Amino acid sequence: MSSIRRGSGAALPSLMLFALVPAVVGAVGVHQGCSSADTEEAADPEAEVAYTTDGLCDNLPKVDLETPPGVCVGIVAKGFVFPRGLAELPGGDVMVADMGGWATNKGSVWRIKKEGGAYTRTQVLSLIDKPSGIQVNPKDKLVYVGTPKDIFRFDPDQAPRPRLTLVVKGLPPDGRHPLKQFVFDGRDPDVMYVNAGSATDVCEKDRLFRSPCYEEALDRSGIRRYAMTGADRLAPTYTMLARGLRNSMALAVHPVSNVLLQGENSRDSINKYAPELTDVEGDLPHEELNVIDPDGHYGFPYCYDNGVASPEYRTADCSRFRNPALLLPGHAAPLGMKYYTGPLFPADYKGQLVLAYHGYRANGHRLVMVPVDVRGVPSGEPLDIVRGWDKTARHPLGAPVDVMVAKDGSIWMTEDKNGTVLRVFFDRLRGNGKPMAPRAVVRPAASPEEAARCAALARKTALFSIVQRDVIDASCVSCHGAGPGYPGSLALLRCDDVGNAKRLLARRRGNAPPLVVPGNDASELVLRLKGQGYPQMPAGGISPEGEGEVLAWIRGGAPLPPP
Ligand code: HEC
Repeated sequence: MSSIRRGSGAALPSLMLFALVPAVVGAVGVHQGCSSADTEEAADPEAEVAYTTDGLCDNLPKVDLETPPGVCVGIVAKGFVFPRGLAELPGGDVMVADMGGWATNKGSVWRIKKEGGAYTRTQVLSLIDKPSGIQVNPKDKLVYVGTPKDIFRFDPDQAPRPRLTLVVKGLPPDGRHPLKQFVFDGRDPDVMYVNAGSATDVCEKDRLFRSPCYEEALDRSGIRRYAMTGADRLAPTYTMLARGLRNSMALAVHPVSNVLLQGENSRDSINKYAPELTDVEGDLPHEELNVIDPDGHYGFPYCYDNGVASPEYRTADCSRFRNPALLLPGHAAPLGMKYYTGPLFPADYKGQLVLAYHGYRANGHRLVMVPVDVRGVPSGEPLDIVRGWDKTARHPLGAPVDVMVAKDGSIWMTEDKNGTVLRVFFDRLRGNGKPMAPRAVVRPAASPEEAARCAALARKTALFSIVQRDVIDASCVSCHGAGPGYPGSLALLRCDDVGNAKRLLARRRGNAPPLVVPGNDASELVLRLKGQGYPQMPAGGISPEGEGEVLAWIRGGAPLPPP
């Protein structure tokens, strides 16, 4: 067993600086200086303890973290300051954007190469302002990097140093969410979707909350669409693709359907204006996964979750906005995601979404798998792939950022708390790789009514109260739990065993028969849970025990639980 350590400071190698202005097309002095040098990683002189490693993970030092059987996490490279974006070059080398911290022009871009079984990292660019998103364009094979103000590209093989070309200029660089993530459209590699994050928490200005939010006129809190249709493949103009999105750092395009999925980092401090909404671990609002429709408005700052008005905008008409495809744990901070297309991991992972939660609270800091349908739309609850950064000396807090699926099928992630690039590997001889059920996170109640219901439910033993606890609260309320616009018009509210039982037994819209008919094993609810004749609800189904509890209630005559 050995301890991997990293430098406590920004141990960047000293570099010669080159004024790059003449080489930058279309802009002067934006990158005040950039340099490139084939500088090998400097050894970390003094160090603070970070990861404990134990054995090897496909020949890399194996980090002691909780993973499914057969899955392990190895350290590819360390010594970064704030590693963020990751992208693989056609030849298999991996580019890393190191934001360098929040100060101006402290960032760098690195290239990780595998040579003779070992990975080495080389600095390619330095003195870049907070580089975050990094992508390789499928058409020109150049590396594109997002900084607060612009997106530039370069040829990583250009010697002696790459020339930078500014492709997108004039991005909003200030305020609370200056970092830029972006993705290329799956069908048109000249088109990119760029995060223009909100400048604020919930569009506060001079301590007022006005509607419409002033950021809309600035084309912030949304996703911009830039097309590289100008001379030299520059992108001089943009249109707004979607609005009402606070900060779109996790963006993924489905490889077949071309659906654009967004991971929303929802607002903070909701209890400031609504003290009844506590703001502690796991609480409101939820983070979100949104399916981005052109011209869609997703509700920021007016509404959160499934169309609930924010305390600052109580009169907002939330029915005007699109609901998320999936609610994620509050403050989980989704920062990077990819559809899993690689050859390595088992069938459970094929085509599913791999998503990194960066958040420092208990709900965050893990790598999860979100089940999706054939179009890439979330269809079930997240399962855990990597967790256990539990803030102890042996398991320091880790905060994954970007996710990359390498050509060999391994899953790479940047992790900016310990300055590492990690590689998640699967060995089928060592286990089946099945993603893990999430650990229950204690979630405070959204309202006093809900708190009272949950307290009462905890003591009940009625057949449906058990279903409520084990099935509905565990697997349904994240989608069906908040309105308006409940999925399939079916409300299944947290801890509301009495109300939910009534709704399942009632006739539906258009006089359709109830979902549950007492005594009937073939009730529509059962068929949907099994995926017989209907799409399975939720995708992947529920546990056999849960199904047994539902059947026990229906066979017992589907009695209402006591109030
Ligand atoms: C990932 C989000 C999600 C989760 C989790 C989820 N559902 Fe759904 N559900 C939907 C969506 C979207 C629809 C509407 C489309 C459809 O009918 O397939 C729906 C529709 C339904 C319907 C049909 C309603 C009607 O009258 O047409 C039933 C019944 C249902 N869900 C039950 C459940 C149950 C029970 C659970 C938990 C065990 C659950 N769902 C979990 C998203 C979800």
